[in-house]
Amino acid sequence: MLNYKNFQPSKCKFVDISNVDDLANRQRILVELEDHSIVLFNINGEYFAIENECSHDGGPIGEGDLDGMKIICPRHGAQFDLATGKALALPAVEDIPAYPTRIVNHRIQVGIPKRSSKSTR
Ligand code: FES
Repeated sequence: MLNYKNFQPSKCKFVDISNVDDLANRQRILVELEDHSIVLFNINGEYFAIENECSHDGGPIGEGDLDGMKIICPRHGAQFDLATGKALALPAVEDIPAYPTRIVNHRIQVGIPKRSSKSTR
């Protein structure tokens, strides 16, 4: 699975999500950005954004419990790395997208891939 953190900044569109003060440590926000359903976490003042859909069977991964830097899918228990979206435990074998985040003027922003205006296929 593509990890959007590897995107060049010129290929991302950063979207303003929240004031840093509105997302307490170990809390999360669910957001819909264009066709991306994303869950944003504050983990000790660092911000991580992953797709809110488990790669095993579409479970709402953003509703899962946290275990350090892992999130556990509430449906069948797959685990993913919050920073990279890497699948860490069965039954998931595919990673989920992880998105870049940044802070600008005390606001949390999440980067999503820019839509191409023309297809290359
Ligand atoms: S849907 Fe997430 S582990 Fe099955």
